Amino acid sequence: MRKGIILAGGRGTRLYPNTVSLSKHLLPVYDKPMIYYSLSTLMLAGIKEILLICNQSDIDLYKKLLGDGSQFGIKIYYAIQHKPNGIAEALIIAETFLDKSSCALILGDNIFYGPSFQKILMDASKDHKNATIFSYSVNNPSEYGVVNLKKNKIQSLEEKPKKPKSNLAITGLYFYPNNVSFLTKQIKPSSRNELEITDLNKKYLKINKLKNIFLGRGFTWLDAGSIDSLFEASLFVKTIESRQGTKICCPEEIAYKKKYISLKKLKQISKNIYSEDYKKYILSIFKDEK
Ligand code: G1P
Repeated sequence: MRKGIILAGGRGTRLYPNTVSLSKHLLPVYDKPMIYYSLSTLMLAGIKEILLICNQSDIDLYKKLLGDGSQFGIKIYYAIQHKPNGIAEALIIAETFLDKSSCALILGDNIFYGPSFQKILMDASKDHKNATIFSYSVNNPSEYGVVNLKKNKIQSLEEKPKKPKSNLAITGLYFYPNNVSFLTKQIKPSSRNELEITDLNKKYLKINKLKNIFLGRGFTWLDAGSIDSLFEASLFVKTIESRQGTKICCPEEIAYKKKYISLKKLKQISKNIYSEDYKKYILSIFKDEK
């Protein structure tokens, strides 16, 4: 079974002063904490065992919010990243947890929303031999890892290039085979002294084991790491939710629809929700069922 890792570390400096006393990934994106979105993505991928990696000072807050995951019918474990040593370090921290399983790593500030996303994830998850990256067209590729394709084949990967060879950003969601901790230990820190996720992906490219899934223009990928992008992400979620009357990335709903939790459990959860809006939504999920 593929396991999941959420990286919710870092200092969130771009969100100052919001992040002085609060972890970035606990800030709200409209109606729910940022971390709910990455958690939901892993749950949609069919992943039921998740390691949440955060800073030492934040661990109790995450435990208070997510507990052992049983309310979502999953298992959540916790680990600490003591210093912001780079995204790839998560895969070394997670080595014991992974215990040679394949995995999906997601950055806690990434938000995905789009048609058939569950199917895309479930299909990608079946491939345990290759690593998979997900790319998305953006107008500011220099701010991301960038993949350059030729006839759908990956030619090169670059981390935050000044002159990007394409406008395809590599999103913060990565699927890896079971050798990932071993390969990560072979990469060296970059000039900014971090273990770069792009360097790890380059290793998979070199051995011809890196696949790219392009998320097309009907898709939405947002990161919520800066003041503007956090605001825009909130606005996006509000716009869609108000228009459609459905929630984006509601883990209780996903847990129920994926049969991770029973109707009885969902009803029980609804009784302990004191927000009228969130409660009404949870009730609406099962209103037509006995
Ligand atoms: C990181 C990765 C980058 C990726 C991005 C996605 O950047 O290094 O390759 O495109 O996440 O959110 P960072 O958020 O650390 O600037």
